[in-house]
Amino acid sequence: MPKQSNYDALIIGSGGAGLSLALKLADHCQVAVLSKFALTEGSTFYAQGGISAVLDAHTASIESHIQDTLVSGAGLCDPEIVRLTVEYGKKSIDFLRRQGMAFTERHNKAGETELHLNQEGGHSERRIVHNADATGKELSLSLIEQAERHPNITLLEHHNAIDLITIDKSADAEQRVIGAYVLDTRHNIVKTMTADTVTLATGGANKVYLYTTNPQISTGDGIALAWRAGCRIANMEFMQFHPTCLYHPDGHSFLISEAVRGEGGKLILPDGSAFMQQYDARAELAPRDIVARAIDHEIKKHGIDCVYLDISHKPADFIKSHFPSIYRQCLSLNIDITRNPIPVVPAAHYTCGGIMTDHDAKTDIAGLYAIGEVAHTGLHGANRMASNSLLECLVFADRASESILKNTVKHALPQIPDWDDSQVIDSEEEVVIAHNWDELRRFMWDYVGIVRTTKRLKRAEHRLHILKAEIADYYQRYRISSDLLELRNLVIVADLIIQSALARKESRGLHYTLDYPELDPNQDSHNTILTPNKPC
Ligand code: FAD
Ligand code: SIN
Repeated sequence: MPKQSNYDALIIGSGGAGLSLALKLADHCQVAVLSKFALTEGSTFYAQGGISAVLDAHTASIESHIQDTLVSGAGLCDPEIVRLTVEYGKKSIDFLRRQGMAFTERHNKAGETELHLNQEGGHSERRIVHNADATGKELSLSLIEQAERHPNITLLEHHNAIDLITIDKSADAEQRVIGAYVLDTRHNIVKTMTADTVTLATGGANKVYLYTTNPQISTGDGIALAWRAGCRIANMEFMQFHPTCLYHPDGHSFLISEAVRGEGGKLILPDGSAFMQQYDARAELAPRDIVARAIDHEIKKHGIDCVYLDISHKPADFIKSHFPSIYRQCLSLNIDITRNPIPVVPAAHYTCGGIMTDHDAKTDIAGLYAIGEVAHTGLHGANRMASNSLLECLVFADRASESILKNTVKHALPQIPDWDDSQVIDSEEEVVIAHNWDELRRFMWDYVGIVRTTKRLKRAEHRLHILKAEIADYYQRYRISSDLLELRNLVIVADLIIQSALARKESRGLHYTLDYPELDPNQDSHNTILTPNKPC
């Protein structure tokens, strides 16, 4: 098995962002796409509600999407990036349709076929295209099918990127990425993969919390890799909690789409009373931060395990055809959503912050791009509006592809040493990793969750320092495994979240602290930017 390989473009991640970029580059160059587990295993595959995209040419529709995004983002969105992204909506959906992706359609009053549009929290109108309640599955499978067919795309499953390889900054040259060390987990060997450009498309970091809607892969690897290599990371205090995750011991963090509330689903307490109107005039369709905080408050106030989401007033046929996957999943747990309310709780869902990128998805390191949930583009501000994430994946895959094709120059590669594991031994203490994984996610949930205080954040910081030292020691001494690599990355991500949360002395969007409960207008447009080796 060759331990060294070279490609024109190396893309780390096979979600909506990574595969879109691969397909846009592949007619022009040789592309490798890495996936930590199976190709489908990423948040993209599990996306439900859809992709927000203005398809008509009316200026008013574009302006209203921009305005809603800015309002949800609570004063921290980059208005230029918001406009750029929203204006790319139609182009992005056209790209997906060319890849064979199917969308739910309906007949309008004139009898013509058009795409059916969902509505979700924060959206003042219907603008979300979707494939029933399994948009991500259809999107992933369409892109994978196209990528598998393309002769210039090499898809490498079970390849876990460990660290980026960069040429160090010196007085006369900028820091440049030239590849990555990658653990082939099936053969247990570390490969050296070089490329002219590397793109991080590794998704979010929501596994840092005990309860999350995200799949196993969301361990913030790209953020940690970029941080270790020297990139700035922004706005990590804004971790989004989705208001409605199924509450059931066998539910495995299954999401109940916001589109259920878009179609009239009501949030109720065990006695059947609705409560959202007390918190916001938009009630169930308020932005996510507001709804998640309201649920958290009601759960704590009444000492209950969950609240309920009730759509049973709608006709059964309507529910089954609009939400077939949610209907089936709940029914398998003996919850018939056409008759009964669904038990729900908030859970960690989306990482609004990430690697700082510019309009073309470029990071601080030459040749290194970041796209999708791993990046901080400035689109989401302090709170991402529903269904803007898949749009961002598509838009910045397009921007990155144009920049890569235009700007990449071939450099002579220096001699790169193979991965050296001669100084480490096999671990006899795997239990330490399992224990630390659990401890980290638990204290992040308890101390750095929906409602924060400085005291709780400091408590988390203290525990994190102990874990950091233990894991660094473990990493030095023992042979690497996927679990160890993920834990090493999660500890960095947790640190970035805690430091960012401590630095923001106000409440805004997803960051709510009892010590500074008000929004400070002086902090409008102020991002929390952390730089490696510098205190924030
Ligand atoms: P992902 O799809 O998460 O893919 C990440 C990829 O990176 C995976 O292939 C993974 O294997 C790979 N990877 C990670 N680390 C490494 C490593 N070290 N080495 C190699 N490979 C690595 N957004 C919307 O806009 N609309 C929705 O309806 C919607 N619904 C959602 C429902 C659920 C349940 C969830 C969890 C999220 C939802 N979101 C939705 C958010 C959206 O799905 C994600 O933000 C988006 O799909 C992220 O895409 P991505 O390509 O950046 O990352
Ligand atoms: C959902 O369907 O509720 C998820 C949408 C999103 O996260 O954007």
